[in-house]
Amino acid sequence: MVAEVLAALNPRSNGRYADGTLGGAGHAEQMLDASSPTGRLYGCDRDGAAVEAAQTRLAEKFAGRFEIRRGNFAELVDWVPAAGCDGVLLDLGVSSPQLDEAGRGFSFQNDGPLDMRMDDRQTLTAADLVNGESAEILADIFWKYGGERESRRFARAMVHDRVRRKFMTTRQLAELIERIAPRGGKKAHPATKVFQALRIAVNDEIGFLKRGLSGAVKILKPGGRLAVITFHSLEDRVVKEFGRERTRDYMFIGEVDVPELRTPVVPELKWVSRKAILPDEVELRENPRARSAQLRVLEKI
Ligand SMILES: C[S@@+](CC[C@H](N)C(=O)[O-])C[C@H]1O[C@@H](n2cnc3c(N)ncnc32)[C@H](O)[C@@H]1O
Repeated sequence: MVAEVLAALNPRSNGRYADGTLGGAGHAEQMLDASSPTGRLYGCDRDGAAVEAAQTRLAEKFAGRFEIRRGNFAELVDWVPAAGCDGVLLDLGVSSPQLDEAGRGFSFQNDGPLDMRMDDRQTLTAADLVNGESAEILADIFWKYGGERESRRFARAMVHDRVRRKFMTTRQLAELIERIAPRGGKKAHPATKVFQALRIAVNDEIGFLKRGLSGAVKILKPGGRLAVITFHSLEDRVVKEFGRERTRDYMFIGEVDVPELRTPVVPELKWVSRKAILPDEVELRENPRARSAQLRVLEKI
């Protein structure tokens, strides 16, 4: 959704931008291009391979105009100047190189170690969860992060099977799920939701998203914009809820919003587009992985 992000952030010369999810630096490159000749970019990714790829891609053309660090976007606030940016982008989820490289263990299409870490300096892997957590906790993960209706059945089968042989590979896990819930002509592989859920849990994606959104607001100038691309409803719900809270012109204490007990406050943000922006037909044809992408844009007041 490059065109949509550029339209939302409107990069210009002299502007300062942050890309918290560099990946292969496709968006970063376009943001630097659009803000030529003097726009600057702060960038990070928690994946070391992505940071290297981004560095290489941007080095020649944009030397001196960007600063890239390996790290979590929740930590951008620790090194990017407060109220220093005109635009911040978070393009969530996994990158194509992460999905395609079997050794990263994100995909059941390619057999690889049951890993799924975006940041390989972290110790917790998907295998640790599948081989170590109780059936209750695994079922909770599959339900909460994957919306998997068979969460309990799958979790019980994993706990049963791992006594005989620990789960070490993506194929081993996918085959167990296929055995219990045969595909039966369905388009999606029966392990899709379990894999998504494990990935979200291993990388604490929801926790970091909440922290990343709060941090992004701190590094934005008034009038600066935050663009967030989500890939599943759980992420999108977090962004919508964050936007709802920060665009409110009143606060209330406790769980229930009683209109008579509201206190007026100055909102921090306003929606640029309350409705999610979706990829166009051309992008969907060229990149089927974009089919579940949704862009939401907020502006700091
Ligand atoms: C969809 S890709 C980004 C693609 C990128 N916009 C491009 O144009 O190539 C998502 C990237 O975000 C990174 N990522 C996900 N969560 C992160 C986090 N909390 N902090 C930093 N990077 C994160 C992943 O490692 C991955 O490289």
